[in-house]
Amino acid sequence: TTTIVSFSTDHEARADFGPYTPGFEIVPYGDLTALDRAMTENTVAVLLEPIQGEAGVLVPPAGYLAGVRELTRARNVLFVADEIQSGLGRTGRTFACEHEGVVPDMYVLGKALGGGVVPVSAVVSSAEILGVFRPGEHGSTFGGNPLACAVALEVVAMLRTGEFQRRAAELGEHLHHELGLLVGGGAVEAVRGRGLWAGVDIAPSLGTGREISERLMDRGVLVKDTHGSTIRIAPPLVIDREDLDWGLEQLRAVLGV
Ligand SMILES: Cc1ncc(COP(=O)(O)O)c(C=O)c1O
Repeated sequence: TTTIVSFSTDHEARADFGPYTPGFEIVPYGDLTALDRAMTENTVAVLLEPIQGEAGVLVPPAGYLAGVRELTRARNVLFVADEIQSGLGRTGRTFACEHEGVVPDMYVLGKALGGGVVPVSAVVSSAEILGVFRPGEHGSTFGGNPLACAVALEVVAMLRTGEFQRRAAELGEHLHHELGLLVGGGAVEAVRGRGLWAGVDIAPSLGTGREISERLMDRGVLVKDTHGSTIRIAPPLVIDREDLDWGLEQLRAVLGV
């Protein structure tokens, strides 16, 4: 967390939480030219979310991830994909990078890795890259927790069949179709996302993201607010269509549409 907030542009998350991890150069998301310009002979890695979660489920312009892969390869720089929110089936693929046929050098994983039950995170890469660490050099109180690792292994096994990626893709299409119908009617300004993941910009006149989230919570639907009047919808990947439709009904009721 301290490293991630070190290069956050979110004042609320960053201010007064220093000292920061040094060495990061921040570039505008989705801008390949800016990324290219920021790289020097001392650049070792590019770290990004293939879809930005906290920022409001921001999907980068088409070709961006493939472009980052090309640039990093050409400059012998590591491409690190933070898929803590976007990974493990959420977007309809195992990794969000797959939507552009991209395989980064490293994945950062968490959240769904514990099945929503236990806290566990992982850095995944090749032996060549992770081999720079030797056993015992870096420890962690909770790292290697047997229960968490057992759950994480089961999550990986569940993803192997492709069932949850398929569910997220199919139900996600339905979710985005329904949310798309709300855009332009006055209550919803924009919808973004992929699979079972959506950022919904609600008209500020209807309340802040927090207020709207609380109104939804009163109706039994948990979403997460981000900046302004944006909410994030990320239902469990085991959800069925009826429950998803019920959730959408609650959203329409809260928005008065
Ligand atoms: C996209 C993303 N990256 C990194 C982190 C930080 O991970 P951790 O909580 O394991 O420090 C989070 C946590 O919410 C996150 O959502």
